[in-house]
Amino acid sequence: MDTREALQDIINTVDRLERWTGALLAYLHPLKPNPATARLQQIVAGALMPLQQKLRERSVQIEQPQWNGHDDSMSTDEHLLEQALYNLLLNAIEASPPNATIEMRAEFSSEAVTLLIADRGPGMPFTPDPRSISPGPTTKRFGTGLGIPFSFKVCEALDGDLNFSARAGGGSLIRLHLPRHYFAH
Ligand SMILES: Nc1ncnc2c1ncn2[C@@H]1O[C@H](COP(=O)(O)OP(=O)(O)OP(=O)(O)O)[C@@H](O)[C@H]1O
Ligand SMILES: [Mg+2]
Repeated sequence: MDTREALQDIINTVDRLERWTGALLAYLHPLKPNPATARLQQIVAGALMPLQQKLRERSVQIEQPQWNGHDDSMSTDEHLLEQALYNLLLNAIEASPPNATIEMRAEFSSEAVTLLIADRGPGMPFTPDPRSISPGPTTKRFGTGLGIPFSFKVCEALDGDLNFSARAGGGSLIRLHLPRHYFAH
């Protein structure tokens, strides 16, 4: 990577952090989504951008959904959704063994989009509870245990849902189901 690219990376990350801080502050207040037209592919790309270094360090690959031939436009709060995805993808990367591939799939209907994240880690050590408002258990030295509660909160605010299950053959399967058009209420 040359200096110019590295610099651009830093600028992009700072921009993103600024947006995240805003969304995080919004989270501390009752979460109020700001819907706009967005493309799911762009939102996923935004969530993955700050994870590139981590993916390289661990030699973990992400297999992105098949975007071609699908209308991935939706009306949602892209900044909130990006942060929720970032947390879930970060968890999947941290759970993955070296050289593993995390598979992402997207399913589209006229009313909804479903995003699946499947890893080959050890599987969830507990059953995440969407009603729990306090931080969940963490197995990480510097973990906050806030990644999953935050993701639940975002999904709920966007009128979607999030669930975790055991993946056939080992690992976790995360399913995020969202309306294609969020209507403020
Ligand atoms: N995909 C996964 N596979 C296996 N275990 C997972 C996965 N995702 C989360 N976990 C477990 O759930 C715990 C809680 O996750 P959460 O994202 O809420 O907090 P954290 O990752 O520990 O901390 P932080 O998100 O602040 O880094 C993790 O410590 C880990 O043990
Ligand atoms: Mg986490």
